[in-house]
Amino acid sequence: MIKKGIILSGGKGTRMSPLTKAVNKQLLPIYDKPLIYYPLSILMLAKIRDILIVVNKGQLDQYKKLLPDGKNLGIKISYVEQDKPRGLPDAFILGEKFIGKSGVSLILGDNFFYGQYLSEKLNNSIKLNKGAKVFLHRVKKPEKYGVARFKKNKITLIKEKPKKFFSDFAITGLYFFDNNVVKLSKKLKPSKRGELEITDLLNLYKKNNKLSADFIGRGGAWLDTGSISDYYKTSDFVSAIENRQGFKIACVEEIALLNKWITRKHINNSIKFYGNCEYSDYLRKLIK
Ligand code: TTP
Repeated sequence: MIKKGIILSGGKGTRMSPLTKAVNKQLLPIYDKPLIYYPLSILMLAKIRDILIVVNKGQLDQYKKLLPDGKNLGIKISYVEQDKPRGLPDAFILGEKFIGKSGVSLILGDNFFYGQYLSEKLNNSIKLNKGAKVFLHRVKKPEKYGVARFKKNKITLIKEKPKKFFSDFAITGLYFFDNNVVKLSKKLKPSKRGELEITDLLNLYKKNNKLSADFIGRGGAWLDTGSISDYYKTSDFVSAIENRQGFKIACVEEIALLNKWITRKHINNSIKFYGNCEYSDYLRKLIK
């Protein structure tokens, strides 16, 4: 059973400069809430309550203003600073103490997931005992992503940004690992670009036939908010759904309430915390 989750929320945000010169990408808005609420909501939907957020050195105070300790969400949030972007597997080295003897889920702070049956798939994924699991999603331009080929639910080949087509299933930024991930991450050597590569880590699992796949499915959306145009597309997506249907995507208080982790009292505290805004109006409706 996986009870711990890490959100990788540092990074340079080069592609979104100058927006990201003074503010970390994950603190920028996707429509009506900060980007980090979206990956946080995914971990909460997976029923993970112990969460480590990896932030850039010097940005802890900003994050704590928004998400102090998680008490109001019925979860525990802790932080670790990364002094420079050493790559995704660095999360498991920085998080070694946090992970302890548990398995762990990793979600990239700038990834957006939405869709039918997602909660069910997430709840299934945290049952992982051995090996690793990734979520795949079909994309139009596989050459932009880490790509995987699979047979049934087992991954048979992974390549980062392949020049020659072999599959159009991209590996999304949501992963589930057994406890070996710490040991295996420590074995990795930096690539030519100077980072530890998630593809190398996944290949270690694949070599032992321990890498499985699940799928977001065609009724679901996976959006990477890393470039300006993708960022605004994601924001438009959220706005279209929220305004049409009247409910919010990634309202973390709503998920906590549905999970029965918090009560009306906590929601009232959150309303005080946010002040008079549209988001608070929505929270008020939840406890009416
Ligand atoms: P990337 O998209 O690889 O990098 P980035 O967000 O810094 O953007 P850019 O390429 O424009 O410079 O990172 C994916 C996510 O993981 C993103 O949310 C930042 C985070 N990240 C870290 O927190 N630490 C790291 O060492 C790396 C590589 C990424």
